Amino acid sequence: MSRGSRVAIIGAGSVGASIAFALLLQKISSEILLVDIVPEAIEGQVLDLSDANFISSTRVRGGTFQEAGQCDIVVITAGAKQKSGETRVELIERNYKILDNVIRSMKPFNPNIILLLVANPVDVLTRIAQKLSGLPEKQVFGSGTFLDSARLRLKLSSELGISENAVHGYVLGEHGDSQIIAWSSAHVGGKPLLDFPEIQKLDKEAVAKEIANKAYKIIELKGATYFGIAGCVSIMPVVLGSNGVERVVDVSLSEEEKNNLKRSASALKSICAKYL
Ligand code: 2OP
Repeated sequence: MSRGSRVAIIGAGSVGASIAFALLLQKISSEILLVDIVPEAIEGQVLDLSDANFISSTRVRGGTFQEAGQCDIVVITAGAKQKSGETRVELIERNYKILDNVIRSMKPFNPNIILLLVANPVDVLTRIAQKLSGLPEKQVFGSGTFLDSARLRLKLSSELGISENAVHGYVLGEHGDSQIIAWSSAHVGGKPLLDFPEIQKLDKEAVAKEIANKAYKIIELKGATYFGIAGCVSIMPVVLGSNGVERVVDVSLSEEEKNNLKRSASALKSICAKYL
């Protein structure tokens, strides 16, 4: 996102509004349009966000799907949210239909537009959006496991008693139950994470479960998650150029991690196959 870009957020629920707030704090776009099928939701969020105008030059207003289709970046949050105990993949039927409508309503697209998928199951919906939008694939991407990686770095930094920014490690695969942790390539200041005695002592399976289940825990406690994803959207880690994703950074993996990643990818592919 560059200063001066216009961002539309589809879905004026808690996720959409938190993303608007995070972008507003970052002052990285000139204008944010909130779009929803419920006018009262837009009006309420815009009024609430306008009370934060004094800390930012970014303005938030309501917009239409057609206007969103002409923006520089569209963040798609619209969709049913997980209920307590429900998996992200179980949302696919409902959220596929919503995504289909959203994309149809935004067309024709600004040819340089970037679509950033956030609604769940995010990996499947991202692939579907690449197809339904007709846009070049590198202009359509999703938040994927960025949030899971942030959760992992937080956990490891507290185990090591150091800043999260010093921990480099990724969760890969599905943003969901089949995700994997790339332990073998994780490092702290160039030193492999697995060389640290505190990490050698850790029950890695328990950590993986804790990270994968964190959203379930938050949903059980407060009904939804939104601040984490809002933070992620405001600093997405891909190298974005005027044409979208310019470069994807590879992560080296052990044989076991590769196999688990392949399993996660095939689970997602078989869900995608039903819709494409
Ligand atoms: C999260 O992980 C629910 O996907 C959402 O917070």
